[in-house]
Amino acid sequence: MTTPHDAPPSTRSERGWRDNPTTIWLAVAAVVGMGVLVQRRLVPHSTWLVIHAVFLGALTHAAVVWSTHFAQALLKTAPDVDPRARQTRRIATLFVGVATVLVAVVTEAWAYAVAGAVLVSVAILWHAVALWRRLRAALGARFRVTLHFYLAAAAWVPVGATAGVWLAREPSGDLEARLVVVHTSAMALGWIGFTVMGTLVTLWPTMLRTRIDPRAESLAHTALPILNGALALIVVASTLGSRLLTALGFAAYLVGVVWWGRALHVPLRARAPRELAPLAVAAALCWATLAVGWITSSLLFQPDWESVETSYGVPAAMLVGGFAPQLLLGALSYLVPAVLGGGPAAVRAARSRIDRYAVLRLVVVNLGVALAISPFHAGVRAGAAAAALTAYLGYLPLIALAVRDSRRARTLPRAAKVTGPSETAPKLDVYRDLVIGLAVLAVAVLAGVLADPVPTWPSLPRG
Ligand code: HEM
Repeated sequence: MTTPHDAPPSTRSERGWRDNPTTIWLAVAAVVGMGVLVQRRLVPHSTWLVIHAVFLGALTHAAVVWSTHFAQALLKTAPDVDPRARQTRRIATLFVGVATVLVAVVTEAWAYAVAGAVLVSVAILWHAVALWRRLRAALGARFRVTLHFYLAAAAWVPVGATAGVWLAREPSGDLEARLVVVHTSAMALGWIGFTVMGTLVTLWPTMLRTRIDPRAESLAHTALPILNGALALIVVASTLGSRLLTALGFAAYLVGVVWWGRALHVPLRARAPRELAPLAVAAALCWATLAVGWITSSLLFQPDWESVETSYGVPAAMLVGGFAPQLLLGALSYLVPAVLGGGPAAVRAARSRIDRYAVLRLVVVNLGVALAISPFHAGVRAGAAAAALTAYLGYLPLIALAVRDSRRARTLPRAAKVTGPSETAPKLDVYRDLVIGLAVLAVAVLAGVLADPVPTWPSLPRG
């Protein structure tokens, strides 16, 4: 899968390190996820492996690569501030760290899990130092706030990694539940959440092809300390065992999100999303907000920490099913054609390929995830989850074909570019796609019920 950098990577190996990890980790998640659907579990800790292949593998790699790209796009620093060879070493360190964590937790080799978590933290902190050097080299640039979000995001990784390796030791009593809250908050809300919010300040209006809200920078500026304070409250309160204060922290985080989200509203009013990328990103943000709301209410209404932990399967499924892959693949659907460039015809050719059956895919993914976490029969949930997973997998060949289309369009003679089919802007066929999407889901659900699988996925039990 193609991802960008400030200048074209010079060697094949650099391109490989930059482009392949996202695909590798998503493929691991898809294979293990299908294994869980079909025969309960493929390897020990399968559910954990799916969650971490997506979040720690695919999303973390993408966060490092793309935040480097956006930092460069916004600050325009000289190449020697963060040379490409150094970026590649960092990505390789992260890859080795992630692989070590995944294998170590699955095989219950705790010492290796610690080593992997240290490598992951080192790679992310190294990345933060590189971003900070860019900030110092571009003192007058606009949208430095995006970089502040990235730095704050990286600072939460060692906190989340420490809680993660502690969890791998399987602590007893309510400590496990409290550590799960610390770990998931630092990693999902801090590391991934802050990176996403920092990026969308400028990417959201760009995806909608409209102007940025003039207040965006200052709204984001105000939101960051609220979000950081909320996260600190969550971590301290859950470590000390106060469910009420932890819930207050989650509520404060939502306040911060709403404050930041005001910057998305003006572009949204100016131009409603009509392409796959902004629609998928918007749907992903809805799932994340729903998950945070769910955790807040279970902290308030569940009788103890163990019950909070038991109910964590649902928001975890929202994050791993509705938020993470949809955000990543949705953003890539916009970014890949844009970064491939090659002129308007090439960009449109790639985009119209990526947007094929957009509404159908959105319906199957989002209704599929909603059914998958519903309290219905296990067969309904498994069928819906399989349909959603298949719809996600559909992104990968379409993105690969878009790369091919973009290259082809670049080599077309001028006249062919103007009259050729690639020139037409992508158009969504809402009603056709809606009908096919609902039919696909109905068939998948029926097949799930007929197969009557063991009811494991997607209630996401631990292990
Ligand atoms: C240093 C890397 C990491 C390590 C060592 C680690 C380890 C763990 C462990 C041991 C658990 C508990 C499993 C259980 O109790 O059954 C866990 C749960 C979880 N982790 Fe991580 N993790 C890491 C990174 C991440 C990242 C980057 C994210 C998200 C951005 C993440 C999200 C989650 C979630 C959502 C759960 C809860 C899943 C559930 O409901 O069981 N982790 N992690």
